[in-house]
Amino acid sequence: MMVKPGATFDAQAGQYDARSGLPSGVCAAVAQAIASEAGLRAADLMVELGAGTGEIGLDFARLPIRYLGLDASRAMLDVFHGKATGIKPMLVAADCDRSWPLADRRADAIFASRVIHLLRPDHVVRETCRVCRPGGSLILGRVVRDSDGVAERLRRRRLELLRDRGISTRQGEDGTRRVIDALVAEGGIARGRRVIAEWPALTTAAAIIAGWDSMPRMGSVPADPALQTEIQSELRRWAAAEFDGLDQPQATVSRYAIDVVGLPQHLAR
Ligand SMILES: C[S@@+](CC[C@H](N)C(=O)[O-])C[C@H]1O[C@@H](n2cnc3c(N)ncnc32)[C@H](O)[C@@H]1O
Repeated sequence: MMVKPGATFDAQAGQYDARSGLPSGVCAAVAQAIASEAGLRAADLMVELGAGTGEIGLDFARLPIRYLGLDASRAMLDVFHGKATGIKPMLVAADCDRSWPLADRRADAIFASRVIHLLRPDHVVRETCRVCRPGGSLILGRVVRDSDGVAERLRRRRLELLRDRGISTRQGEDGTRRVIDALVAEGGIARGRRVIAEWPALTTAAAIIAGWDSMPRMGSVPADPALQTEIQSELRRWAAAEFDGLDQPQATVSRYAIDVVGLPQHLAR
């Protein structure tokens, strides 16, 4: 069955920020750090793939640069528009696995946050090389959690439960690696990973698991409701034993990390 890109995000647009939003000060710091990492100057164009509800895009749109957000889900973009008081971000509904709605060499930087694993790496690289000017940059952003923290341990256990049932999901880290390697093969210069924001939080296993209850995806795959209920129950049983109950407050530290690849002045193709 063909699933329309962004379809599962249409259904969760209203809850996305509550479940996956970053603290607001973090978003502004992330946007500022990325703009400076990419060396963007006034009126330079930053294109964001999978801009979503504007978690970071909203803060790009407030900087003195030009910003274009692309997303396959109109519902996610509607939330973005709704938050953009006093500014008019340029947002376009577009499937980033198809040709991007931009002329050649128009962009100064391409940014993708928490979405690269959902896109086709070869296509992202081809379109980046087409629409981005020589010497521009591709920036891939993601949230990295403590490997022994509650959120990361629950995420790993959930993946194991999915794998036990023959379901493999695409992971952010693999998607990031594939795109970086493919762009480097085209002459891109990998500048490595940098943590640009860090924030502590207090949470519980119950809250993290509850956030997954209403998600129409499990990992990157659309969820079968019966299977989702089964996995969520098993996860709750596991977590209650692992964390001494579901409601014990757990301190966590999250980080926002970016991988930057510079485009050469002359592309290999
Ligand atoms: C996990 S959200 C990330 C949103 C935002 N970048 C952030 O960090 O909060 C992924 C976003 O990518 C969009 N998306 C998924 N597949 C897409 C595609 N093929 N083309 C364009 N957008 C896509 C979804 O609609 C969703 O808004």
